[in-house]
Amino acid sequence: MSPNASPVSLTRYLIEDQREGRIGPDLRLLIEVVARACKSISIAVGKGALGGVLGDAGEGTASINVQGEAQKKLDVLSNEILLEANAWGGHLAALASEEMDHCVVVPDEYPRGKYLLLFDPLDGSSNIDVNISVGTIFSVLRCPDDVAQVGDEHFLQPGTAQVAAGYCTYGPSTMLVLTIGNGTHAFTLDREIGSFVMTTRGMTIPEETKEFAVNMSNQRFWEPPMQQYVGDLLAGKEGPRGKDFNMRWVASMVADVHRILTRGGIFSYPLDAKCAGKGGKLRLMYEANPMAFLVEQAGGAASTGRQRMLDVTPTGLHQRVPVFLGSRREVEAAVGYHQAHDAVRATSGNVKAVTEA
Ligand code: AHG
Ligand code: MN
Ligand code: MN
Repeated sequence: MSPNASPVSLTRYLIEDQREGRIGPDLRLLIEVVARACKSISIAVGKGALGGVLGDAGEGTASINVQGEAQKKLDVLSNEILLEANAWGGHLAALASEEMDHCVVVPDEYPRGKYLLLFDPLDGSSNIDVNISVGTIFSVLRCPDDVAQVGDEHFLQPGTAQVAAGYCTYGPSTMLVLTIGNGTHAFTLDREIGSFVMTTRGMTIPEETKEFAVNMSNQRFWEPPMQQYVGDLLAGKEGPRGKDFNMRWVASMVADVHRILTRGGIFSYPLDAKCAGKGGKLRLMYEANPMAFLVEQAGGAASTGRQRMLDVTPTGLHQRVPVFLGSRREVEAAVGYHQAHDAVRATSGNVKAVTEA
């Protein structure tokens, strides 16, 4: 943003979107409420040890969530902040979260709205105790019409059905990155006035990159095409890719994706032998899909390695998927390795079938 331009607050951006017919008042309220909750989470995160919010939520199995993962105090607190903020506004029918087994329907005492909200209240929470960036990810779907009792099944819509998605990153500055299907825009929290102010209109991910993000410690557990893809990246200038690559891994998806939206790169959490039985590590509905929507809206691509992420038909609220997203050409390259591998496997399968017949 040029220093002389008049600042566009999130509220003003949303009002202008409403005036131009891109969103209705309910969706505008929903996004404002999520942004307000993110400000509260930002304050809690920012207090660190002084707020008594670091560490695990409970002893032993008391703090294990539906994912089988130990909850941090801030996972629980962030979930509660988002639930409380969104319960009474009349904009939602139900909410679902990484930290809850099933969706929560808006209580009867409040009017029921037409949207469904999914969120990862605190992403990268293993990083909280070491003061590294964490974030909140959210996805908004329309509640199907004529549903008497909203349940988990109504959330199982493909990513293409999202009407809005975003994340808030709690780093050196707190930033909200949002799409309503009209580009991806970044807002920075002005802590003095307590308001998100637009700092990048229309983020664009460079098509090409020399930077990749992956947890290399899983290398030996990957599938052959992933082994080969990363092997070729590591071979650098002398290898088939003909250029040297750099690597970054924050282990907070929000922070890694934010870097990619800002300067390009490819993020991947592929299938590996440890998570193959679960379908992957990252969750489709409140991690992969909202990030895929944001990345596509910024000119990038997002895939499972075998299918466009936003086209995946969900089968469960907490379903996991392999993830490749970021600079378009690089994602296509990674997908190419999977396609080539699958094609060879299919051919050798056919040859085997013919020989055995
Ligand atoms: P969450 O904290 O919401 O469970 O998500 C953590 C995710 C994601 O943010 C990150 O990219 C990944 O887990 C890190 O996994 P590794 O620890 O296996 O690197
Ligand atoms: Mn997460
Ligand atoms: Mn989380």
